[in-house]
Amino acid sequence: MTPTALPPIPPERLGALLAAMPKAELHIHIEGSLEPEMTFALAARNGIALPWASVQALRDAYAFTDLQSFLDLYYQGAGVLQKEEDFYDLARAYLARAALDNVVRAEIFFDPQTHTARGVPIEAVTRGLARACADAQREHGISAALILSFLRHLSERQAFETLEAALPLREHFIGVGLDSSELGHPPEKFQRVFARCRELGLHVVAHAGEEGPPAYIWQALDLLRAERIDHGVQAVHDARLMQRLAAERIPLTVCPLSNQKLQVFPDLRQHNLKVLLDAGLAATTNSDDPAYFGGYLNDNLTQVFAATGMTARHAWQLASNSFEASFASAGEKARWQERLAETFERYAA
Ligand code: ADE
Ligand code: ZN
Repeated sequence: MTPTALPPIPPERLGALLAAMPKAELHIHIEGSLEPEMTFALAARNGIALPWASVQALRDAYAFTDLQSFLDLYYQGAGVLQKEEDFYDLARAYLARAALDNVVRAEIFFDPQTHTARGVPIEAVTRGLARACADAQREHGISAALILSFLRHLSERQAFETLEAALPLREHFIGVGLDSSELGHPPEKFQRVFARCRELGLHVVAHAGEEGPPAYIWQALDLLRAERIDHGVQAVHDARLMQRLAAERIPLTVCPLSNQKLQVFPDLRQHNLKVLLDAGLAATTNSDDPAYFGGYLNDNLTQVFAATGMTARHAWQLASNSFEASFASAGEKARWQERLAETFERYAA
């Protein structure tokens, strides 16, 4: 199906269609799916004292002024993850929740350095997450894969050490990413380690243009050879970059509620997802850190559609882009595109 051949969708059915349509989530940090209730449960299980008096007190602390103010709390929260079983439970909970949103494919970031710095073995992190992915496929029919993300506030040497430690676990992840504090840590800092990852046959993606300038997106493309840009919303400030992203169909994994909560677009009505799509970019919608930003994937879709007046054509484009941009097999992608077309037929007038 093409956008021009889309059946007409009655506007009152758009909300239900957004929820029902099959979709891929390509930008989710598993540590960012740690709900406050689970933080407390894991702290009790692992005998860890928390600085918050209650689940509500922790939730009340989720008032962020920028990316760094969020990351400080996110790394602190991740401290309750200690054992392989903790990582397993975390990912099982996310994947069960994602399946309710009709997510058929999830490509999940994990930050091993956040855990190895506390003495948690990388094997416990990776094996727990990988086992959850395999079990979720059996239980929910959801296809899931892991992307190992390097922390950009650390050095390239530490990224190389992490890659080295992860290589015996190579079968459990499909690619690498770059996340954490963006400003002051440009992609060029990681040029050599990304080159090595590409030689190893890993997919490569990078956060760029979340808070950082368009120059960081150029670097991610030209120096890291990123196959997708995570966030990328600052591209709108550079017309030549916009043309390139559109011409090369380089996917952007956009996260509306994240951008709102981290004050990139404090008012969701100002969000530029519709602008990116209308300029022909392969934008997708994602939840980033759903436990911290107040919504999973369908909440992101519902709220950004309501705020910016997007239509059924945009909905189809986002879901179709999510499959096109995924690292799944051609056979899986074709099957999901067919299911997407069937869903639109079902909701047509
Ligand atoms: N790690 C988790 N969420 C992130 C985000 N939105 N940007 C950068 N690093 C992150
Ligand atoms: Zn992110």
